[in-house]
Amino acid sequence: MTPAGPGTGTRPQRSPFAPQVLPDGRRRFTREAVLARRALLAGVVAAATGGGVLASRLGSPDPGVSAADPAVHDPVPVAAAEPAPAVDPGPSTTDAASPWVVVNKQHPLDPVEYAPPLAVVRGKEVAAVVAADLRALLEAADRDGVSLSITSGYRSHARQRSVHDAAVRRDGVEDAESVSARPGYSEHQTGLAVDFGGSSQPGCQLENCFGQTPEAAWLQAHAGRYGFLLRYPERKTEITGYAPEPWHWRWVGTDLLARMAGRGVVTLEEFFGISGGPVYA
Ligand code: DAL
Ligand code: ZN
Repeated sequence: MTPAGPGTGTRPQRSPFAPQVLPDGRRRFTREAVLARRALLAGVVAAATGGGVLASRLGSPDPGVSAADPAVHDPVPVAAAEPAPAVDPGPSTTDAASPWVVVNKQHPLDPVEYAPPLAVVRGKEVAAVVAADLRALLEAADRDGVSLSITSGYRSHARQRSVHDAAVRRDGVEDAESVSARPGYSEHQTGLAVDFGGSSQPGCQLENCFGQTPEAAWLQAHAGRYGFLLRYPERKTEITGYAPEPWHWRWVGTDLLARMAGRGVVTLEEFFGISGGPVYA
C-alpha cells in the first residue's frame, strides 16, 4: 500500500530542495536537491547582479548544505564564472546607413552625397527602413481622425542644396540656417527624417504654429510608439543647432527611444555625448 501523506490521503509533492528525513531522524540532502538549490541561487544572483560579480560565488560551497553530507561528497561540476555581459552599444552613430546616425552641423554625412535605399509612403520617398513604421503611424492617425500628411521625406544632396539656397535667398543666411541644413548635413538626406503636415491649419505648414495643431499633439502622444523622435525640440538649439521644428521627426526606432527615456534625455547629441550646436564644423 502506498503510504499516504498526513491528513490528505495523497502523498504531498516533495519540494526538489527538501532533504530526505532518514529513519534515525537525520536529514540528508540528495544530489538533486543540491543541484536544484544551486540552480535557484544562480538565478537569484544573476537577477540581482545582471549576471555579474556575485555569479563567481557559484563555485563556492552552498552555505545551506553541509560539506560532510554524504550526498555532496561527489563534487558537483560548476561552470566557471562568466565575465559580466557588455551592454550592447547598438548601431553605429557615424555610418550614414545606420538608424542611429547622428547628423548635425558638426557631423556631415559620410559620404556627403550619401543616398539610402528608398521606399515610397503616401507618394513621398523615405528610407526603406522607415516605411513600415511610417505607414503604421499614418494609419493610426487616420483611425484617430487626425489628418497627418508627409510634407517632406527623403531629400537628395542636390535637392537639399536647392532647398537651402532658396531659404538663404528668402531669409538671409542666419535665419535660413536656423531651420535649413546645408547639403550633406541634413537628416532628410538619410531618408530617416519626415516633416509632417496636417489639414487642420494649412497656414501652419512648416511654421511654428504647427506645434499648436491637433496633428502636432497627436504626434507628441503617439509618434514614439513608431520609433520617431522630435529631433529639434524647444530649448535645445544650442545642442541640436536648430530652432524648434515641431514638424520634423526623425526615425530612430523604439529601442533607442526607450534608452533615451531611461536616461531622461531628448536629443541624440546628449544621449551619445556627440558635439552639435549652431556652428558648422
Ligand atoms: N530642417 C532641417 C534642419 C534640415 O534642413 O535638415
Ligand atoms: Zn525636416
